[in-house]
Amino acid sequence: MALKTNTILICAGGGCISAGEESVKQAFERKLKEYGLDTVVSVVETGCMGACSLGPLAVVYPDGVYYQKLTPKAAEKIVEEHILKGRVVPEYLFEGEKEKLTIKEKEPAEIPFFAKQVKIALRNVGVIDPLSIEEYIARDGYFALHKALTQMTPEEVIKEIKDSGLRGRGGAGFPTGLKWELARQQKSDIKYMICNADEGDPGAFMDRSILEGDPHSIVEAMTIAGYAIGAQKGFVYVRAEYPLAIERLQKAIETAHEYGFLGENIFGTDFSFDIEIRIGAGAFVCGEETALMHSIEGKRGQPRVKPPFPVQKGLWGKPTVINNVETLSLVPPIIHKGAAWFRQYGTEKSPGTKVFALAGKIKNTGLVEVPMGITLRELLYDIGGGHPQGKQIKAVQTGGPSGGVIPAEYFDTPVDYESLGKLGAIMGSGGMIVLDEDDCMVDVAKFFLEFTVDESCGKCTPCREGTKVMYDILDKITKGEGTMEDIEKLEQLAQVIKDSSLCGLGQTAPNPVLSTLKYYRHEYEAHVKDGVCPAKKCKAFISYVINPEKCVGCTACARVCPTNAIHGEVRKVHEIDQDACVRCGSCIEVCRFGAISKVTPAVVGSISR
Ligand SMILES: Cc1cc2nc3c(=O)[nH]c(=O)nc-3n(C[C@H](O)[C@H](O)[C@H](O)COP(=O)(O)O)c2cc1C
Ligand code: SF4
Ligand code: SF4
Ligand code: FES
Repeated sequence: MALKTNTILICAGGGCISAGEESVKQAFERKLKEYGLDTVVSVVETGCMGACSLGPLAVVYPDGVYYQKLTPKAAEKIVEEHILKGRVVPEYLFEGEKEKLTIKEKEPAEIPFFAKQVKIALRNVGVIDPLSIEEYIARDGYFALHKALTQMTPEEVIKEIKDSGLRGRGGAGFPTGLKWELARQQKSDIKYMICNADEGDPGAFMDRSILEGDPHSIVEAMTIAGYAIGAQKGFVYVRAEYPLAIERLQKAIETAHEYGFLGENIFGTDFSFDIEIRIGAGAFVCGEETALMHSIEGKRGQPRVKPPFPVQKGLWGKPTVINNVETLSLVPPIIHKGAAWFRQYGTEKSPGTKVFALAGKIKNTGLVEVPMGITLRELLYDIGGGHPQGKQIKAVQTGGPSGGVIPAEYFDTPVDYESLGKLGAIMGSGGMIVLDEDDCMVDVAKFFLEFTVDESCGKCTPCREGTKVMYDILDKITKGEGTMEDIEKLEQLAQVIKDSSLCGLGQTAPNPVLSTLKYYRHEYEAHVKDGVCPAKKCKAFISYVINPEKCVGCTACARVCPTNAIHGEVRKVHEIDQDACVRCGSCIEVCRFGAISKVTPAVVGSISR
């Protein structure tokens, strides 16, 4: 086997794939082959590297040079220049605030996107070949498992996790060590360990990135957890939409077996453990732990009442621990380096780091891992780079469909479980959607409600019927048909659904409604009382009009209008037929003369809807 001199790690996360990763990868491979370099240089796909807005991304190792916004042409040039002649290609280097930067030359501390990040969960993503167990071992992989099995009792492992203060990253933030301890205390010959890789929150993809970029970390963590609680069998429940994650995990399981890190008598001890993958069909509710267990058992993925909790009565009635992927990825470093090391990051009650998926009106979209306790402002401005067009950020929606909005005046709040909870939002799995003045808060609430209505499993009435009624009221308000009584009813209903639903889905579904009502009630009232959508977002309240003084009759708007609502002759002032206009906004996008404006209140009466 030829010795590899270089590895090109290319990001195969969702953002980079949609930006053309596949053709870039092929161009790398083609060019390397052309120069006969394919035997000494490997091209390896990995999970999301974080800076999704700059994709497709690749890193050339051993130099550690990041390249961004790659094209097939760029890939060819990197092979010809960097790989062949050792010359970095400046035009595709990672973009700092002011200049193009090589990570090699500049300490990451000088690059704002990296400076405040601490990578523990994502420590290996974009750094190692996910398929190489040797590279994982070279980064301290399986050292924690060895230490746990050969130098620690299960109780000592649990104590270390308890001392670290690690809390579940899957949503609720339950203390991991306590969960393991409760499972350990159960008297049963059979116990199970489950890794929850369902990742149902739209917009969150950190679990996927870990599974694709560092699958061995999950195999190692699950085995440690199995040892701690007294389980011999583990399941990873992963959604079918993650084929690369499934493939990599399967490969990691097989390789770990070959190395004796999984299976019978691991490291020659009397502990045996094995892992199986179960593929879920991608229903949000199947991420809920009791529904997930039903799904693994081959039953319909519907939740059941708790207690009994899974640690008491879980999979096939046996004590079961369920942990999220990100939670598990933090376990090996804690065992290897100790609880005190982990606690140097984060806050007293929320130690360690958390991965966030930044999306929406923010410059640097992608995955970032930061110590807990960082403020929202640092997260959004120092790391996220602020608004892409320099506008004011109005609010941030945290925690996905079960979360809430946090207005800009609270951006100095530290990001931890308690602080976000006090504001009526949640950490959830770490989704963060940044909103600006163009986002209507009633519409935001409606967007999330639409998701929960679709995903409600239908087992209990408050969630099945209640979320639909809430959605209908929000829809009425955004259509200009809402009343003040509707707002009252919405608030009462939200509270009832929160208090009476069977599972976390229904219990948290009202959060977007309650938090927008808490901070942006005036926007609801503006829709109802004044007939205005302050953000000029809801179509019922806006119209597009052409300013005759600015229109030069270029016809661009008429050509893009999907309903032929714009009339006018060449070089003559154009007009919009309000009856035909569907308010898609295409015209305003193309008018180079600033002649079209969006106005609210709608000229009610003159527009038939
Ligand atoms: C509707 C619903 C969906 C959920 N989806 C997920 C998910 O996709 N992934 C996950 O890890 N936890 C999810 N959870 C939380 C799990 O039920 C469970 O609390 C978690 O996996 C426990 O792991 P942790 O303690 O490591 O966070 C969901 C909960 C609810 C109510
Ligand atoms: S709250 Fe919703 S998702 Fe949960 S059991 Fe009830 S109907 Fe199903
Ligand atoms: S695109 Fe602008 S300038 Fe051109 S016809 Fe339409 S409104 Fe007038
Ligand atoms: S998808 Fe490539 S950096 Fe996120």
